[in-house]
Amino acid sequence: MRVFVLTGAGISAESGLGTFRDKGGIWARFDPMKLATPEAFAHDPNQVHAFYNARRANLLSAESNAAHRAIARLGAALTEHGGDLFLCTQNIDDLHERAESSRVVHMHGELLKARCLRCEVVIPWRDDLGVEVPCPSCAQAGGLRPHVVWFGEMPLEMDTICDALQRADLFVAIGTSGSVYPAAGFVTEARGNGIRTCEVNLEPSDNARQFDETHYGPASTAVPAWVEKVLASL
Ligand code: NAD
Ligand code: APR
Repeated sequence: MRVFVLTGAGISAESGLGTFRDKGGIWARFDPMKLATPEAFAHDPNQVHAFYNARRANLLSAESNAAHRAIARLGAALTEHGGDLFLCTQNIDDLHERAESSRVVHMHGELLKARCLRCEVVIPWRDDLGVEVPCPSCAQAGGLRPHVVWFGEMPLEMDTICDALQRADLFVAIGTSGSVYPAAGFVTEARGNGIRTCEVNLEPSDNARQFDETHYGPASTAVPAWVEKVLASL
């Protein structure tokens, strides 16, 4: 069985990383137009770097949770049974990797990486990186930015994602409000391709009516329970 799993901020909420649109979410406390757009970075790169440095510090003190571990277990079991798990996350944290998911597609980039605006090289983040630090690849200064997709930018690896969505037998959305495109449109595409759809979330998302199956509750309990159900059917 080929399973396409899309995760959002909700799967990392119980690891202490904020979501975006819940009460008290990141965008309720910070103005995304001043921190998560290319224009914001051009206007005040140090402010943008400071915002992501604070989120990185929070991430380094966080741990993956039972939901991340259950998805890793599902991936291993599907592979053993000749199937596969395509794990696409909107999250920029590395908690799926820390829970030992083998292949994670980060469509919004990764908080622990930096990218050079001049030569596009992607490098691991270091805390001393800033606009005044020359790129280790092209040696030009002024171009190192967080390797994160911002409002108005194209998500990453969309060809790979669309191909996997075409080939899936089951599409599952976990911990996402279904409010930001193109990820929010994946369930519509899956239904158009005749693929079964399932939502596992704290509460019904904006797309809830498009799902054949729904499970609601905190990810750390709802996701393992759903995974056990799938494993029993293999
Ligand atoms: P956008 O405003 O650029 O819109 C994305 C696309 O979705 C547009 O082509 C828009 O026309 C389309 N769209 C909007 N409503 C639609 C609908 N009802 N049906 C079909 N298509 C619809 O997107 P954005 O919010 O600026 O974000 C661009 C990318 O950056 C997205 O992938 C987003 O998730 C990502 N992003 C990342 C961060 C971050 O902090 N990593 C923050 C914001 C956005
Ligand atoms: N368990 C499961 N789901 C949860 C939990 C939890 N403990 N806590 C919150 N949720 C759910 C919320 O009900 C909500 O539906 O997670 C979802 C979080 O939604 P958003 O805050 O909108 O986060 P997300 O869907 O990942 O945002 C998409 O928008 O700003 C951009 O790039 C940013 O990747 C982000 C994208």
